[in-house]
Amino acid sequence: MSVSTNAAADRSVCAPLPVLGRDVTVPLVTGGEAVYAALDYAASAPALQRVWDDVAAYAPYYGSVHRGAGYLSQLSTDLFENARRTVADFLGCRPDDQVVFTRSTTDSLNLLAAALPQGTRVFVFETEHHASLLPWERRADVAVTYLNAPRTPRQAVDTLEKALAAREPYGPALVCVTGASNVTGELWPVRELAAAAHAHGARIVVDAAQLAPHHPVDLAALDADWVAFSGHKLYAPFGAGVLAGRADWLQDAEPYLAGGGASRTVSRRADGGVDVAWHTTAARHEAGSPNVIGAYAIASACQALTEAGFDALVAREQELIAKVRAGLAEVPEVRVLSLFGEDAPRVGVLSFVVDGWNSSHFAAALSAEYGIGVRDGLFCAHPLVRTLLGGESQDPGECGAPEGAPGERSLNAIRVSFGAGTPDEHVSRFLRAVRELVAEGARWSYRVEDGRCVPARGDVG
Ligand SMILES: Cc1ncc(COP(=O)(O)O)c(C=O)c1O
Repeated sequence: MSVSTNAAADRSVCAPLPVLGRDVTVPLVTGGEAVYAALDYAASAPALQRVWDDVAAYAPYYGSVHRGAGYLSQLSTDLFENARRTVADFLGCRPDDQVVFTRSTTDSLNLLAAALPQGTRVFVFETEHHASLLPWERRADVAVTYLNAPRTPRQAVDTLEKALAAREPYGPALVCVTGASNVTGELWPVRELAAAAHAHGARIVVDAAQLAPHHPVDLAALDADWVAFSGHKLYAPFGAGVLAGRADWLQDAEPYLAGGGASRTVSRRADGGVDVAWHTTAARHEAGSPNVIGAYAIASACQALTEAGFDALVAREQELIAKVRAGLAEVPEVRVLSLFGEDAPRVGVLSFVVDGWNSSHFAAALSAEYGIGVRDGLFCAHPLVRTLLGGESQDPGECGAPEGAPGERSLNAIRVSFGAGTPDEHVSRFLRAVRELVAEGARWSYRVEDGRCVPARGDVG
């Protein structure tokens, strides 16, 4: 990682961190090719070069974890357990917290849902990603209260306080909230929500899938009970995720999966059955052979971000956000989606609609004509996007024909997202592409295939 030194004013801003795929070129329908501009970090971020190098250096030493007498097994076990400690440091865990390695944020939140004490009341805003909206209802003995979309951070806290104050009878309760929205990028008032939850005897889990890659997360400082995130959004795409936080509910719960690794001893009973003593450590919920490469990759990413300096990464990302917002503001046909208002603090995730354009068509043209990868749709947060768009979504329809006259509402949105590896050129090219597409239209024809707009083959529009 090199730090920009060209001006005193930007001494605290880093250069982009090297990521895999930074030189990959993709063909353009209009001829030639372009270096791929990965502007879909919110879905999956490119791997940090450092993470890839660390994994490659470890790969020859790969061995079984927690179950081998050989040297490489012991080395791999140490690596896995050290990864746990690195992640705990990265997240500001308290001494008694547990770090459980999972497959993803979705897996982490499903694990926590499975571990809730009987009769827990769960409070969740309707604006959540489906991964934090849906796991709770699967428990028949858990009551879920869905809270309406707040329009300011203060309203979020007030809404939660009212809902918690009204709950009867008093028993275990959990609040689940996103740290940063995967649709608007807006930061949620996690510390204030945690204080409100605790004042009413409830606990709180933070869905940090979009927060952790962009912003320091400190469990102790936030006074949050758990945090969940995914490796593939944190530049470590090897199939692992994390649930970190309070040990008690996890220790008392049935193991997430039954099997080796989670069990300490297993014996036959006189009546022919089987007695199991389960671990009470994180291993209780990590049955089966653990994903050592995934865990190590996450730890490597945590170290890389810490060493680069989160303040400098945040400063750089804020510059990119300002550039994107200013550029989009110059195009009157573009409307950026926001729950908390234009100036709300946010991470590098922005969704928008373009008057007179079907979002799938626009995203397809960005890809096919400019080599830019964004996402279009409802982003696994259907209630939120529908609220922001003010209506129901539908299929892309005809790509060639705009879905409505300028000024009509769009039925899906386009999301651009970026992070530690994004060079300025990707953002500049994106803004130029938006300006050109809006002013001149697409240069190619598109058709609908499997509900998505794709370039029509060999057919200039
Ligand atoms: C806010 C948020 N939470 C949860 C998830 C789910 O993450 P994963 O698909 O890695 O489980 C995502 C993924 O986009 C997300 O953006």
